[in-house]
Amino acid sequence: IAAAGAVYYLFGATGDLARRKLFPALFSLYKEGKLAEDFAVVGLARRPRTNEQFRADVYESIGEFCRYKADETELWNRFAEHFVYMSLDINNVDGFRQLNNLTEELDAKFDIPGNRLFYLALAPDLFGPVSFNMRDGGLLESKGWNRLVIEKPFGYDLESARKLNAQLNQVFKEEEIFRIDHYLGKEMVQNIEVIRFANAFFEPLWNNKHIANVQITLSETVGVEERGGYYDKSGALRDMVQNHMMQMLSMIAMEPPSRLHPEDIRDEKVKALRSLRPFANEEDVNKNVIRGQYSEGSSKNKPLNGYRQEDSVQSDSMTETYVAARVFIDNFRWAGVPFYIRTGKRLPVKTTEIVIEFKNVPNNVLFAGRHNLAPNLLVFRVNPMEGIYIKINAKKPGVDNVVQPVSMEFCQSCMIGINTPEAYERLIYDAARGESTYFTRWDEVAQAWSYVDRIASAWREDSSSLQFYPAGSWGPEQMDKLLAEDGFHWWTVN
Ligand code: BG6
Repeated sequence: IAAAGAVYYLFGATGDLARRKLFPALFSLYKEGKLAEDFAVVGLARRPRTNEQFRADVYESIGEFCRYKADETELWNRFAEHFVYMSLDINNVDGFRQLNNLTEELDAKFDIPGNRLFYLALAPDLFGPVSFNMRDGGLLESKGWNRLVIEKPFGYDLESARKLNAQLNQVFKEEEIFRIDHYLGKEMVQNIEVIRFANAFFEPLWNNKHIANVQITLSETVGVEERGGYYDKSGALRDMVQNHMMQMLSMIAMEPPSRLHPEDIRDEKVKALRSLRPFANEEDVNKNVIRGQYSEGSSKNKPLNGYRQEDSVQSDSMTETYVAARVFIDNFRWAGVPFYIRTGKRLPVKTTEIVIEFKNVPNNVLFAGRHNLAPNLLVFRVNPMEGIYIKINAKKPGVDNVVQPVSMEFCQSCMIGINTPEAYERLIYDAARGESTYFTRWDEVAQAWSYVDRIASAWREDSSSLQFYPAGSWGPEQMDKLLAEDGFHWWTVN
C-alpha cells in the first residue's frame, strides 16, 4: 500500500547518508509502489546545485547502493521528476520562507495534500535551530501532517538530550518526532517479537527458570574510517551501546505487550530499560564493564593502524572503541540472568548476533557422567546474515551413547537476499505512514542515557581501566573473564 503523499525535505542532501541510504531507499519504495505519484523530494544543503545535478547525484547513488537498478529509463525519468534541489542557509529564516513557496508549487504540481516529512541528516546541534526556522518560515502551517525524522546521536548524555528534546518540543509534539535507530529497521530485530510471542517452543521458556544467559554481540571489522572527529568525542558507549545495544536488549527482555500497537510495545520496552540494574559506583562499573581501544594490529596479513593513529583522533585519546558489559534486569522474569553485551571496531568479523543460552536438562541417569551436554541455544542472526538457528543435542549416528550438538537453521537471507528490505526503506516507509513502533520514544532514549551515563562518569574519574587490543583481534582479554566468573563463555559467532 502506498504511503500518503507528502513533501520530503532532505536536509543534508549532499551528505553521505543521503547518498548511501536515503536515495536508494526512496527508489526502492517507488519501484515497489509504496510511494505513489503524489510526492516530492526537496534536497537541501548549502552548496549550490541545479535540479539536474541533484538528479544526477541521485541516479549515481542508486547505481551504486540500491538493490534495484535505475536503468529502466521510463521508471527512472518518472521518479527523477519528483526531485528538486534548493540551496539553503539553515541559519537564515528567509530561505525557509522561499522553501515554503517552493512547497506550494510542489503541492499543486503533484497533488500533495499538505503533508510534510522533514528528514534531518544533519549534526544534532542543528536539530533545534532548524526546527525553529521551519516554524518561523511558515513551513508547518499546511493542513496536512508534519513529521520530523532525526538521526542519532540524540544528545551526548542525559542532560544534553533533555535540552535537545525541550527545543524540539517547542515545535513538534512527541508523536510527530521519529527518532531513528536504524537497528530497529532491521528485519531480524523486528522478528524478535514474532519469534518470541508466536512460538509455543520459546514463549514458555523465556525466563530465568530456563534461560542461563543472553549474549548480544555487535562486532565490526571497520575502524573509525573518516569519522574520527565525531567518534573520538563519542566512543563505543555512546555510538553503539546507548542506542543499538539497548534497543536489542529491550526487545529480548520486554514483557509481551497487550496489543501490537506502537505505544504498547514502546511502553514494554521502556519498562525493561527501567528495570536495568544501575551501576552503584566506580568499582561496580569496573567489575562489570570492560572498555578497550584498538592498537596496531593486522587482518588477513594486512597491517592496521591503531586507533590513536587514525585521522582526526587525538594521539593520546582515551576513547573506547570496544565495550563489553554484564548487565542485569531486576524484574521477576529475569532475576539472576546475566545479559552480556559486547561491541567493538576492528574485530575479526562483521556480525550482529543474539544468543539465548538455555539451562541444561537436570543431571539424570540417562546422561549423567557420560556426556558433557552442550546447552541448547537459540541464535538470532541480525546482520549481515539474517535468520535464526537453534542448537540441540542429538545422537551421533552409527555410534552408541554419543550425544552431539546439531543445529537447525532458518536462513532468511539465503532465500530473499541480504538486507531486504533495507533498514532505511522500512523506516522511511513507516515514518510516512505514521507507524512509530520502530522509532525510539523520548522516555526510552532518556532511560538508556541515564544507564550509560553512570558508566561514562565512572570512566571519567578513572582512566586506568582502558585496555588495549590489537586491531583484528576479538578485544581485550578481560572480556572472557567476565563470563568465566559466572561459569560461561562467549559462543563463537559465525
Ligand atoms: C552506526 C554507528 O549507528 O552504526 C557506526 O554510528 C556503526 O559507528 C554503524 O558503524 C553500524 O551499523 P550496521 O548497520 O553497519 O551494523
